[in-house]
Amino acid sequence: MKLVFYGAGNMAHAIFTGIVNSNVVKSENIYLTNRSNEDALKKHAEELGVQYSYDDEALLKDADYVFLGTKPYDFDNLADRIRPHINEDNRFISIMAGLPISYIQEQLGTSNPIARIMPNTNAHVGHSVTGISFSNNFGPKSKEEVHELINAFGSVIEVPEDQLHQVTAITGSGPAFLYHVFEQYVTAGTRLGLEKSQVEESIRNLIIGTSKMIERSELGMDQLRKNITSKGGTTQAGLDALSQYDIESIFEDCLKAAVDRSVELASQDDDDDDDD
Ligand SMILES: NC(=O)c1ccc[n+]([C@@H]2O[C@H](COP(=O)([O-])OP(=O)(O)OC[C@H]3O[C@@H](n4cnc5c(N)ncnc54)[C@H](OP(=O)(O)O)[C@@H]3O)[C@@H](O)[C@H]2O)c1
Repeated sequence: MKLVFYGAGNMAHAIFTGIVNSNVVKSENIYLTNRSNEDALKKHAEELGVQYSYDDEALLKDADYVFLGTKPYDFDNLADRIRPHINEDNRFISIMAGLPISYIQEQLGTSNPIARIMPNTNAHVGHSVTGISFSNNFGPKSKEEVHELINAFGSVIEVPEDQLHQVTAITGSGPAFLYHVFEQYVTAGTRLGLEKSQVEESIRNLIIGTSKMIERSELGMDQLRKNITSKGGTTQAGLDALSQYDIESIFEDCLKAAVDRSVELASQDDDDDDDD
């Protein structure tokens, strides 16, 4: 299998590093290109054994999967660059937030299969939760191959394209929401009188340990919580205090705002396209 990455920036780097490390595709069959930063490509090639080139004809020849990894506003230029060289072997995987499959197909001037993925920043540690939607003409074997590629840097959730907004909110922005909650926990912990550095270090390890419990246990989070909550104990007292607040509706508001903003940004893209 031959992979080509158009754009080798922050997110693409996490993706091709995960794919190389998991050995799903041999590094010599992974090709990178970008706009002009050849030093970055050289560095990736030296570190990972991948190839790089600016020869679009050669890059796209026999390319099974072509990752589109530029910023959304750079995509029109990218489409102009590759349109003349697209051939029937090429299936596309867009990592660009907000650009619909129909728009990508239109700009590329092709009806070749296209998948849209929404990874999150945890791809850098091989733990992205990646939303994916496929164009209707994506075959079952190709879908399986794409799932395997994505599993190389985390897990996959396949949804219809119009639900990628929800995935963007829940898992795309999700790490930031959780960081924010953890920040408040650190601040509150510090107010109990311990050294700030001690509290920060303890809560870091608390989060890592709790994540590993979730990962390794077959129990749901509700059961894990119940298992450490004795009637009349300290945990019960803390949870009772928490239950005075409607935490569920706070998170509902948070996620709804993120979904609404995702829809709004996508419709702005549409408007911009209309203006062109
Ligand atoms: N970062 C995240 O957490 C995240 C999460 C989900 C989705 N995404 C999506 O990932 C995409 C990339 O984001 P990023 O943060 O990785 O951006 P980035 O670090 O700025 O990387 C952009 C890459 O695109 C290349 N590029 C620009 N124009 C090009 C062209 N015409 N032909 C070929 N390559 C071109 C750049 O090359 P040069 O360096 O040579 O200019 C660079 O390698 C975005 O569309 C974003 O929506 C990112």
